[in-house]
Amino acid sequence: MDIPDRQFYDKVATKFGSYKGKERYTSRFSNRDPEEFFLKQLIEYANKNKVALDIGCADGRSTLKVSKYFRQILAIDISSQMLKAAKRFQTEQKVSNVVFQEADAEKLPFQDKYFDLIYSRRGPSPYAEITSVIKQGGYYLEICIGEKDAKELKEVFVRGQGFGEWDISVAETKSNNLKKLGFKTIFVHDYFYSDIYPDVENFDLFLQGVPIFKDFDSEKDKEFVLSYVQKMKVANGIKLKRHRVVIVAEKL
Ligand SMILES: C[S@@+](CC[C@H](N)C(=O)[O-])C[C@H]1O[C@@H](n2cnc3c(N)ncnc32)[C@H](O)[C@@H]1O
Repeated sequence: MDIPDRQFYDKVATKFGSYKGKERYTSRFSNRDPEEFFLKQLIEYANKNKVALDIGCADGRSTLKVSKYFRQILAIDISSQMLKAAKRFQTEQKVSNVVFQEADAEKLPFQDKYFDLIYSRRGPSPYAEITSVIKQGGYYLEICIGEKDAKELKEVFVRGQGFGEWDISVAETKSNNLKKLGFKTIFVHDYFYSDIYPDVENFDLFLQGVPIFKDFDSEKDKEFVLSYVQKMKVANGIKLKRHRVVIVAEKL
């Protein structure tokens, strides 16, 4: 049975007090860090006159980080527990130009052509809704999970997010869909890299906080974890191959 996102992310925020736990890992990039690149792009397309929409803001830490580059950011999420954490971080950081709001990305509660810029950082990407609420000439930026992300791990578990869809290119599918909706894609790129977890405890903590297996259970899945660790053990820990896609598009 698939666990709804709201339930999964509420559970994560309640357990860890924010998005994800405090697992330790290091990343190895063959080219550039896609998250860092996405952030740079977001800042490049931002300015102090723009109103932005952040879809699936989770605990809001990344929203607050870029807020100073915009006039305002409206940040939505479906998980009330994540938003509770986001508002706590907002109060601590005394940021006044971000509005966190509980809303479903599939039914965006905003006026047509309202936003100068819309982005999703590993959140939902409801293209039809985005098309309605973005201004003409507005920018859409997204970083999302690629089809080959954690493939070897999912093969050991014989389940997981996007299991078996290894050959359906996320980059190609998404850019085709955006073009059909009147966007011009400025940038679409796949990024492959590895994360290294120092030990099983940190790897297990990571798996508890991400939706690779929304039904992950440390006890029930112990055999799978150990079998994966056996297979992907490297000198300094446990290797996990990652795949991200970054997209930048303009609404014509
Ligand atoms: C991987 S997290 C996003 C992380 C966040 N953007 C960041 O930069 O740290 C995905 C988020 O999308 C939210 N989400 C999932 N489905 C949603 C929906 N239909 N509407 C709004 N938010 C949704 C989840 O609750 C979760 O907080």
